[in-house]
Amino acid sequence: MKNRRDFIKTSALAAGTLALYGIGSKVAIASETNEDNLFKLPDLEYGFEALEPYIDTLTMEIHYTKHHQGYVNNLNKAVVAEKLQGVSLNDLLGKVSKHSVAIRNNAGGHYNHSFFWRLMRPGGAKSPKGELAEAIIRELSGTDNLQKAFSDAAKTDLVPVGLG
Ligand SMILES: [Fe+2]
Repeated sequence: MKNRRDFIKTSALAAGTLALYGIGSKVAIASETNEDNLFKLPDLEYGFEALEPYIDTLTMEIHYTKHHQGYVNNLNKAVVAEKLQGVSLNDLLGKVSKHSVAIRNNAGGHYNHSFFWRLMRPGGAKSPKGELAEAIIRELSGTDNLQKAFSDAAKTDLVPVGLG
């Protein structure tokens, strides 16, 4: 994976697949805060190079140190400005329509990146298993069709059949 578009496609595939089948609700994102009740980057459980050759080291480093850190910084600025210190990330997102664009966008970016770091891991599953695998086979006749549907959608900006 060499660029932002591939990263987004992979993230969308993983998150979309999990969300589609209701699996995401089983992956809790507990966002940590510092002593000032402000959000902080989660520790990575693996190095930036750990997902090579699927995601290259530089891509991982940029998404962690620049993108994710940027979302956290901007979320904290908005939290302070709107006096929301101490409100959990899940509570912010649970009432997302009541919050400013800055809270919505940056809380979403923080959550999505945190979710991504948890989903990916070196030596992890090479293919879906259990309930997710059964749902993919039932709905799309297998992971090859799922990957093709997402790849086609990424190229055309269309929502894959059965995934809209
Ligand atoms: Fe990113």
